[in-house]
Amino acid sequence: MPKVVILGQREFDVKAGTNLLKLLQDTRYDDQLPATCNGQGQCSTCAVRVRKGAGDPNQNELDVLGEEQIAQGWRLSCQINVTQDIEVEVPGYEVAEAIQIDPAIIRDVMAYAAEHVPLKRLATSHTITVKRLRDLSHRAEALADGGGDPKDFEALYAIFNYIAKERKLQEVPTKETLTEEQVQKILDAFAKRLPAEEEEIIMYPYFLYVSFTLFFLLLAGLGVYSVFRDAPLEEPATPSFTPNPEKAPWYFVGIQELLAISPNVGPFTSVAIGGVIIPALFVLFLIAIPYIEPYLEFWRKDKSKPVGRRLRDRPVTTLLFTSLMLAAIILIIIGQYFRGPQWEWVIPWQ
Ligand code: FES
Repeated sequence: MPKVVILGQREFDVKAGTNLLKLLQDTRYDDQLPATCNGQGQCSTCAVRVRKGAGDPNQNELDVLGEEQIAQGWRLSCQINVTQDIEVEVPGYEVAEAIQIDPAIIRDVMAYAAEHVPLKRLATSHTITVKRLRDLSHRAEALADGGGDPKDFEALYAIFNYIAKERKLQEVPTKETLTEEQVQKILDAFAKRLPAEEEEIIMYPYFLYVSFTLFFLLLAGLGVYSVFRDAPLEEPATPSFTPNPEKAPWYFVGIQELLAISPNVGPFTSVAIGGVIIPALFVLFLIAIPYIEPYLEFWRKDKSKPVGRRLRDRPVTTLLFTSLMLAAIILIIIGQYFRGPQWEWVIPWQ
């Protein structure tokens, strides 16, 4: 029987072929491994760090994690079927360990809170009701043992925080008197189990549904709008009259301006540079955006974790993208308002 060692925590003898994610979920690590795509190898939320014995990564893992993270030992637990002894680190394990507190404390505090805490004053993302507190009090053992939903911990955190802040420690009828240090330790442990700030949305199918719905709503809105409003067309074109300047529609006038200001360099004309090379480089940059940041290691404090997906986790790409978009907007404004006959500079308000 192969052995699964969750480093620093537990060991299991499992049947050959057992799925690692399933094992972790069955042994109560599910809330740290949300497994948002349900084990299809598409989301990376089930990633664990393998120290020994996982075999070669499959194509899903290579696609989702990339070679660099695989080299650091990250693997998708949903894609691993255990066939040999394996050692893994499960993110958040130390939290489960830290939470080992006496369940009686949770039970007593929740029972007290159900009677005495003004629940409306607690700032949480979920409503806390008396019924919920009673329920948590009944599940005290499971919570103290590291199980439970992150939303449970939000309620626990809010209650313990209230009790500490409002100096109610002496009032709570626990077997042993609660001390400030003890509550602080409990709060620190709970804090690590709070729900993630931002929920991850999987591209397929969830995000696609939303995108397509919005797309069709927008299309329908534009269709209705176009019934009531005519397009601002000019007179039919005549070969004997060419307007000066001939401006592209506003969304292309930036490129027209780019053509006008690009120099001729060697064999490349300004048209090739402004009309083809610079726009092509911009498109390549857009394609490369997801891959740039993981290579820019120097500013990251914790290099062992995969690069996050939020804007603040990717400052260099965000800055570059914002600057390029600003440049594009400035070119459009110049082309649209500050260019006159012969594409000469004009002041629009004169
Ligand atoms: S659960 Fe989504 S990649 Fe494993």
